Amino acid sequence: MEVSYDEAKRILNEWIKSDALLKHSFGVETAMRAYAKKYGEDEESWAIVGLLHDLDYEKHPTKEEHPFKAAEYLKSIDFPPFMIKAILSHASYTNVPRETLLEKTLFAVDELVGFLFACAYVQPDKSFRSVKAESVKKKLKDKAFARSVNREEIREGAETLGIDLLEHIEFVRKALSENEEKLGFGKI
Ligand SMILES: [Fe+2]
Repeated sequence: MEVSYDEAKRILNEWIKSDALLKHSFGVETAMRAYAKKYGEDEESWAIVGLLHDLDYEKHPTKEEHPFKAAEYLKSIDFPPFMIKAILSHASYTNVPRETLLEKTLFAVDELVGFLFACAYVQPDKSFRSVKAESVKKKLKDKAFARSVNREEIREGAETLGIDLLEHIEFVRKALSENEEKLGFGKI
């Protein structure tokens, strides 16, 4: 099935009500769009994968069900298999290998977007523009900060993409800052 961005957004809103998870989904979409442009890949399909990667997380947050329930549902509505595989592969415990650039990128941006959100929230203006990539890199070592974010996955993600960690942080930070009003940031 050919799937449109609008349809993906409709599905997202059907499954997810939590403001935080919706924001995360749009944040990952933003990063995926930026990398799709950089790599000359199909922006819309990368955006859709970013948008829907945590589709079932609100209803089925356990490792037994997430992201398997999302994959099951997307398969039932004839979603393109490459998108479903990418979504499955973003969780390491599924043991679905990350082989394509799409899969590697999704994994590389997911936790980093969460970490950058936390970094922007503590800025007085709540803006990604006030976040410095250097200090983000340093903050990764502060275990008390944004504790739920998996640092190892951020490092592994950049490595798998073959990008320097600082460069990766700055690339995603910039992408988020360019879309921050839509994401609900930058408001004092
Ligand atoms: Fe995620």
